[in-house]
Amino acid sequence: SLYQATASAPVNIACIKYWGKRDTALILPTNSSLSVTLDQDHLRSTTTSRADASFTKDTLWLNGKEEVIKPGGRTAVCIEELRRLRKVAEDANSNEPKISSFKLHIASYNNFPTAAGLASSAAGFAALVSSIAQLYSLDKVLSASQLSLIARQGSGSACRSLMGGFVAWQAGQLADGSDSLAVQVAPREHWPEMHALICVVSDAKKGTSSTSGMQRTVETSPLLQHRINHVVPQRMKDITAAIQARDFPTFARLTMQDSNQFHAVCLDTEPPIFYMNDVSRALVQLVVEYNRAAGEVRAAYTYDAGPNCVIYVLQKHVKEIANLVVRFFPLAETFKDPFALFASEKIG
Ligand code: DP6
Repeated sequence: SLYQATASAPVNIACIKYWGKRDTALILPTNSSLSVTLDQDHLRSTTTSRADASFTKDTLWLNGKEEVIKPGGRTAVCIEELRRLRKVAEDANSNEPKISSFKLHIASYNNFPTAAGLASSAAGFAALVSSIAQLYSLDKVLSASQLSLIARQGSGSACRSLMGGFVAWQAGQLADGSDSLAVQVAPREHWPEMHALICVVSDAKKGTSSTSGMQRTVETSPLLQHRINHVVPQRMKDITAAIQARDFPTFARLTMQDSNQFHAVCLDTEPPIFYMNDVSRALVQLVVEYNRAAGEVRAAYTYDAGPNCVIYVLQKHVKEIANLVVRFFPLAETFKDPFALFASEKIG
């Protein structure tokens, strides 16, 4: 018989940024973070996992190309942890088919450019963990938060993609990482007017990876210590309250402040890391000017480890800000989804 399961997971975009690990092996962060999980059909990873007695080794294909699964590496750690849990379930229940000893074939597809710096690893590991969890029937006994402990070990930000809506990754305190997990702050339906506009400034592969960049920041930035100890804890409380109250101006201000501070700690790193470029900075000015002219905060920009801009905006102002961005990039392409807009550096 065939043992197979398919799962998909969307990208999430952080409002309060994860940047820094206190444990690089277990992927335990130096601070809590909070993100919004996108819920459209694009910007997703879809993974099919298969177990069969005839397979000779665990094999992974990413967009059709075989990837090496490094022993002890992130993918191997996720697979081994899920396999261990499956074995426990098999030992406890003799009716469970003994598939934990079978090797896995895993095929994963991103429906967006992998190199575009659009958090592909977050969606990728979330989909991988979900599909194997389903294959092993672990999704019936483990909560999304429990599975997030495993996805976290694939890529930190991946732990937040297992849930929809507004999701917090609680940094936790324990050395074994068992309290470093994702929790849903509010489901998508709590604030359905919230939209994210994706502005692709460049689809070139980023210079400094998140993984190496954040460790350099931990080792060299005094500003990061201030951020961890004196800024993020209060900001997590404030943004959670803003989400619960559907207070957009507060949500937006905190999101922009945290993006700014994240890029400030990158600049405070030795040698400094630059993720934003001239087009990114011009988009910051556009949003600032838009809010100033409106006399209220209607849009919030945020940038991750690359130059691309995500603008959070309420539905009633999507068209307004989208038109401005399109005017700013005269040839900008609007994709199927009217709420996702892609601009390109080539035409900017
Ligand atoms: C700037 O999750 O990609 O997007 O845990 O080393 O895989 P690893 O890093 P990763 O870092 C994401 C950093 C960020 C901010 C965020 O998503 O919170």
